[in-house]
Amino acid sequence: MTEKASSKPIRDLPQQEAPQEDVPKAVSRRNFIKGVITSGVAVSSASYLFRASPLLHGQQSAAGVGERLLTLNVNGQQRRVDAMKQETLASTLRYKLGLTGTKLGCDRAECGSCTVLIDDIPYYACSVLTHTVRGRKVVTIEGLAKADGSLHPVQQGVIDEQGFQCAFCMPGFIMATVGYLKTNPSPTRQELAQGISGNLCRCQDYDKILTAMMRGAENLREAKLG
Ligand code: FES
Ligand code: FES
Repeated sequence: MTEKASSKPIRDLPQQEAPQEDVPKAVSRRNFIKGVITSGVAVSSASYLFRASPLLHGQQSAAGVGERLLTLNVNGQQRRVDAMKQETLASTLRYKLGLTGTKLGCDRAECGSCTVLIDDIPYYACSVLTHTVRGRKVVTIEGLAKADGSLHPVQQGVIDEQGFQCAFCMPGFIMATVGYLKTNPSPTRQELAQGISGNLCRCQDYDKILTAMMRGAENLREAKLG
């Protein structure tokens, strides 16, 4: 059931008008977007945690609990979790660990909004079983920024270019780009478009997204030069 992020042709659809801003004046659009980029969430994760299916809360017999318990390496931390054998990594991250920056769009390996890195390779978390990532390193959007709050260069690229509309797809695009840049740090625009073409944007904001991701690649190269 493991599904690696695929390479589908990027959509070449007309760009839409940006929606009217309705952010209160006291909160600048730039600061609002920065908050979303850092955590991938615009709302508290608590509602998601408590909305989880009863099945995910492990309302099952005590028998088998031992088999369900496992330790995951997520964002550099060892996280103990109770996961069913058929549970997907996306569900575990969101509903057990509160990492709601990993979005669920299609939940069937088509949109890329759930993209995370597993051992530095982008995967659709909705199509990876949690128990298959034992002993592997999982990185989500919450794991990109440094402890001091400074953004990853690709996240900074989004700030620099204001690259998304609703930004639901943003965590997935950022994770896909970070993963792709590990294999090709200096891509052409066309190469990067192909490299992250397994991610879709419902706002069809592809041109701006690519510009932001290219800026992120540039930021990353500069950061490595010191
Ligand atoms: S939610 Fe995983 S690919 Fe769409
Ligand atoms: S910016 Fe809205 S889904 Fe991509």
